[in-house]
Amino acid sequence: MRALKFRSLLFVPADSQKKFDKARDLGADGLILDLEDSVAPGNKAAARDGLGARIDAANTPRDWAFWVRVNAFDTGLTEADLAAVVRPGLDGIMLPKASGGADVARLGVLLDRLEGAAGMEAGTVKILPIVTETPAGLFNLASYAPAHPRLAALTWGAEDLAAVVGATANKGDDGQWTNPYQLARSLCLMAAANAEVPAVDTLYADFRDPEGLEADCRVARRDGFVGRLAIHPAQVEVVNRAFQPTEAELDLARRIVAAFEENPELGTVGIDGKMVDIPHLKQARRMLASVEGA
Ligand code: COA
Ligand code: MG
Repeated sequence: MRALKFRSLLFVPADSQKKFDKARDLGADGLILDLEDSVAPGNKAAARDGLGARIDAANTPRDWAFWVRVNAFDTGLTEADLAAVVRPGLDGIMLPKASGGADVARLGVLLDRLEGAAGMEAGTVKILPIVTETPAGLFNLASYAPAHPRLAALTWGAEDLAAVVGATANKGDDGQWTNPYQLARSLCLMAAANAEVPAVDTLYADFRDPEGLEADCRVARRDGFVGRLAIHPAQVEVVNRAFQPTEAELDLARRIVAAFEENPELGTVGIDGKMVDIPHLKQARRMLASVEGA
């Protein structure tokens, strides 16, 4: 099974062979072949049918994960989407409009059956739900814990939620999320921590604004997100860089770990004139683990 990373996950509309060809060499940690909202209803069946051969061709050693975003359960299309894509080479399913842990369990049952039929090791295909696209989803965020064994991470979305709520916009004139979407974002972060899985920030729609994207990624990383969704090739490199700890941060983390290892009797130490205690040690270890093997 591939070790999944979540710095940058690039959406690629599943009906575009050209975009898929381009997307593979960009350095994204994952590609999300989208069967949902970036594909027009009339193209969905053909897009779905085209995916199997791409997954077969990608069933080789590679350093990116192959995700497919299926259509939401309420469309009636989900099972046919899954039947076309659950095969060796697939790493995970993104589930849009998830309304809670019960949806993850429901998807897990379908995957159990399809993996068996495809001769795959049970549990290979992971699940990445978008957890804030419906109001019910927001109220059920606690239900992702304890995490289903297939639950890989949580991410959130603002566009569908705004449409359901009837909002005229989800960002203010300053470009920042308005309060309802700040709430959704924060709750996604907390729900992921509660379920002990990574949180992945949502996409940055303005794909011609690398500076804005980078600044936004730095805020996301500061807050605890490990990566984010991307929609355009130009975003991948910016996102990867922004979510990578800097050498200075890694150096400090190594010094924090070393200070506690050299002084196992201490619960708090001073480093660079600042108090460092057990929460800092945990964070330092987490940061070092995130770059291990990179
Ligand atoms: N993956 C791979 N390649 C992509 C891409 C993507 N997500 N988005 C754009 N490209 C390619 C284009 O095909 C184009 O290729 P070319 O130079 O060979 O012609 C190149 O990158 C530059 O694209 P650009 O002209 O800047 O953008 P566009 O107008 O062609 O596309 C979008 C803009 C938004 C339609 C496109 O970025 C896209 O489809 N994004 C993903 C949308 C999606 O999946 N949304 C679902 C989640 S909300
Ligand atoms: Mg959506």
